Amino acid sequence: MAARYKETNKVALTAAGGVVGVLTALMLLIYFLSDGFHLWQILIIDVVVFISSFLFYQSAVDKFIYKKIKLIFKTIPAFRTGKANKAKFFRHDSLEGMNEAVLEWGQKQRLEIEELKKMAGYRREFLGNISHELKTPIFNIQGYILTLLDGGLEDPNINKDYLVRTEKSVNRLIAIVDDLEEISKLESGEVKLNLTNFDFLELTKDVGDFLEMKARKNNASIQIDRQSFKSVLVHADKKRFRQVLINLIENAIKYSDKEENKINIKFFDLDENYLIEIKDNGPGIPEESLPRIFERFYRTDKGRSRDMGGTGLGLAIVKHIIEAHDQTISVRSKMGQGTTFSITISKAKYF
Ligand SMILES: Nc1ncnc2c1ncn2[C@@H]1O[C@H](COP(=O)(O)OP(=O)(O)O)[C@@H](O)[C@H]1O
Ligand SMILES: [Mg+2]
Repeated sequence: MAARYKETNKVALTAAGGVVGVLTALMLLIYFLSDGFHLWQILIIDVVVFISSFLFYQSAVDKFIYKKIKLIFKTIPAFRTGKANKAKFFRHDSLEGMNEAVLEWGQKQRLEIEELKKMAGYRREFLGNISHELKTPIFNIQGYILTLLDGGLEDPNINKDYLVRTEKSVNRLIAIVDDLEEISKLESGEVKLNLTNFDFLELTKDVGDFLEMKARKNNASIQIDRQSFKSVLVHADKKRFRQVLINLIENAIKYSDKEENKINIKFFDLDENYLIEIKDNGPGIPEESLPRIFERFYRTDKGRSRDMGGTGLGLAIVKHIIEAHDQTISVRSKMGQGTTFSITISKAKYF
């Protein structure tokens, strides 16, 4: 038999004492009233009953209570190894509820610990990425300055070229810091959306005008569907959706590689919201990259090898903004044919 708890004997002693006490009182009553017992008989019966009920209670307490409590305590370390589900539980015992509560608690703890570990992993990866992204322009700037100090200043060709390159790297640093600030605000939930009703068609035309020069420089033309709807009235944060449109259209311009690049923007009515499609006929995104393009700092090889001046944070920001509105973004792409981003946006609300 397994080692016995000290408490088992105390409980069994108390219970056996109680039984013998009641029995003795009864027998004494009979003894006084009817003279039915001898005192020595009472003494023997007491001793026998005391020993047998002590033994009975001892094993009962062990069997029904302490064994179950032991089980609960066995369950706790089992969580560490993730084997708690395999621990044995009695369905019919009165401690079952407690057992299940411990099990549930432990499972919750394990999930929380796993979540924390995952977050810590993301954080490490994120910090590694940031320092890598910041170091590149910083080292470039350092290199340009050293070249200029090293006699480059005397040569007007080098001099101008290196200053232009330095400015580009500084702009890249500023863009990274701006995007980082934006994404950390979005992730911490600090951003309060300023929801209003506005015409998304108007906003799109506005952004189209704003990016027209950039598009023309890249042989791209932005075509907005103006026929399907007179207006596309939506309920959202206008400033943030402007940012979404700029990021998506800028990507379509940046990554286009054809003689004639067409960027088409279309609107569809989906009862409760509108669907907006931003379609380009650019190089497309490799299938294996598609699930990753919304990750922070992720850029496909094309994005990296030709320096497009991006930070790899644009789509992560876009996704955050859209999800903060409880809306969705999806992407379809075919290599060599183009990419289509689809976003949804709530229709205008009138109370
Ligand atoms: N329209 C597009 N066509 C092709 N590739 C794209 C397009 N939009 C995004 N990508 C790919 O997704 C990556 C992530 O985009 P983004 O987060 O905006 O970062 P960035 O533009 O700063 O590189 C880009 O580096 C690029 O490889
Ligand atoms: Mg981008």
